[in-house]
Amino acid sequence: MSGHDDLIDLFLALDRAGPGDLDSLHWALQVAGTPPRAQVLDAGCGTGADLPALLAARPLAQITAIDSAAPFIERVRARFPSVSAHVGDMANPPGGPYDLIWSAGAIYHLGVRPALSSWAAHLKPGGCVAFSDLCWRVSDPPAPACAFWQAEGLALGSADDLASAVTGAGWRVLGARWLGPGGWAAYYAPLAKQLDSYTGAPDLVTALRAEIALWRAHGGSYDYRLIVTAPA
Ligand SMILES: C[S@@+](CC[C@H](N)C(=O)[O-])C[C@H]1O[C@@H](n2cnc3c(N)ncnc32)[C@H](O)[C@@H]1O
Repeated sequence: MSGHDDLIDLFLALDRAGPGDLDSLHWALQVAGTPPRAQVLDAGCGTGADLPALLAARPLAQITAIDSAAPFIERVRARFPSVSAHVGDMANPPGGPYDLIWSAGAIYHLGVRPALSSWAAHLKPGGCVAFSDLCWRVSDPPAPACAFWQAEGLALGSADDLASAVTGAGWRVLGARWLGPGGWAAYYAPLAKQLDSYTGAPDLVTALRAEIALWRAHGGSYDYRLIVTAPA
């Protein structure tokens, strides 16, 4: 199996493939003013981490989910038959136009500016995008955290840098907040358990254990920044 396939195999058994929680989703729905009968897209839905909360918070909404990993979408279809789930590139989502495009921990795959530019054409007038992206929480981050994220190929900026990327793309920031430790614990607690019993891909297991250890030691220096935004 390739590294990418290992990752999918490992996360297929988990309900969450990135940090996030109920509170942050409810906050985004409220800031975005997402109506009860909304059309909502979960872009980069993974195995469907946020779909139970979306379905519960907006039971009359039409929910579409897209992910590039076919096994994740098979699982989403099995778990949530009422969700219209698609394998594909979230830069070019089906359906819509949407009142809300929600994208938790996935926008970095496209880049903020390209993602917003693609999604603008898929929003209703008055529609919003809510996304989360990894940022430094401190101005002088610790060396082990810098080295770790650099090795992962991620160039983290500050919350202000992220807001500037959004406004620079011609969008308004309607609200912004940190995810906070609860959202990381919701991701890492089941992942740590899964790593203890997972027998494949030793390199991947080591890398994910290192990521969890980094968060325990230096998690105060970085966090997911949530942004709700609309075209200006
Ligand atoms: C960190 S995971 C987050 C998944 C989910 N939102 C969650 O919070 O559990 C990022 C997801 O984005 C998906 N992804 C990456 N690039 C994509 C693309 N261009 N189009 C659709 N999905 C993509 C990956 O397959 C993965 O499931």
